Amino acid sequence: MAARRPPGREEEKASSRLPRHRPRRLRRSPALREWVAESDPEPRRLVLPVFVRPGSGPPTPVAGFPGVSLWPIEALPKLVRGLSDDGVRAVLLFGTARRKDTSGSEARSAEGAVPRAVTSLKRLDPSLVVATDVCLCAYTSHGHCGVLRGTAVDNDRTIALLGTVAALHAHAGADLVAPSAMMDGQVGAIRAALDDAGALETAILAYSSKHASALYGPFRATEGSAPSFGDRASYQMDYRNGREALGEMELDRREGADLLMVKPALTSLDLLARARARFDLPLAAFQVSGEYAMIKAAADRGFLDERLAVRETLGAIRRAGADVIVSYYAREFARWTREGA
Ligand code: PBG
Ligand code: ZN
Repeated sequence: MAARRPPGREEEKASSRLPRHRPRRLRRSPALREWVAESDPEPRRLVLPVFVRPGSGPPTPVAGFPGVSLWPIEALPKLVRGLSDDGVRAVLLFGTARRKDTSGSEARSAEGAVPRAVTSLKRLDPSLVVATDVCLCAYTSHGHCGVLRGTAVDNDRTIALLGTVAALHAHAGADLVAPSAMMDGQVGAIRAALDDAGALETAILAYSSKHASALYGPFRATEGSAPSFGDRASYQMDYRNGREALGEMELDRREGADLLMVKPALTSLDLLARARARFDLPLAAFQVSGEYAMIKAAADRGFLDERLAVRETLGAIRRAGADVIVSYYAREFARWTREGA
């Protein structure tokens, strides 16, 4: 091998004076930046959370959750038109109860808001992807995500009930059910209940890594689902734990989850990245009500540019590894993208 020529005087001077690497070359123009951009939160990936309510009348705005309404069945045609105009193709339904009780029995009624809304949405637009949140907290008088034994949530009785709820949603036509109660074994129990009910094709979007978070505030105000005593720390995860989160995802994968979700999104970007490296299943992230509210409130006060902040946060969630993103900004973001803004 020929010996390397020692640098000449000129070369030595040049290399010491000039930067060897110039990443800015590919940032010079919008066209170059667009051309090399690695990821985008494309609207096709977005899922809009939708609150449905019993009763009739127009959609009712929620105090404390700007831009969010409770939708009665009769208003759903308007929702479907709006989704199609804006280019959002998937929804995640949350129900509200007419009457709450200790076991959350309205969650298991075929006349409840969610099963009726699923059937109506699928009739209005069969191509819409419809997922349903599966939990009891919106239906229990005490606001916990399961049934109680004394003051503790009874895991195994709860997962049996969640299986019943999931089968009801599947029977109504849901494409996916999304268990969010953070009970042990809930994905396995739901898969078994779905299969027993003949709902072999209904998929499970598992809230696998769900932290006990201060960022669910506007959601709980909407649902009236804040626990009446204690908190959710005995079932939702401590946000300090990341290995535990990956373990929860592994369990849900083994129990038959079709997608794994993390939430809140922005406080879980490390988990998304680690999950992306470890699992081949599609990953979802939920930009929760408090994440939405932080941006909304800051934008309203002129502290930041709403569109840029939304694009940046959704973009970071996508970059970290999310295939689908649940966001209260889904419609607005899809509309802004259509408008080229
Ligand atoms: C119900 C549920 C919650 C959220 C999704 N499913 C609330 C909670 O766990 O208290 C949070 C969604 C949001 O804040 O947007 N278990
Ligand atoms: Zn719950």
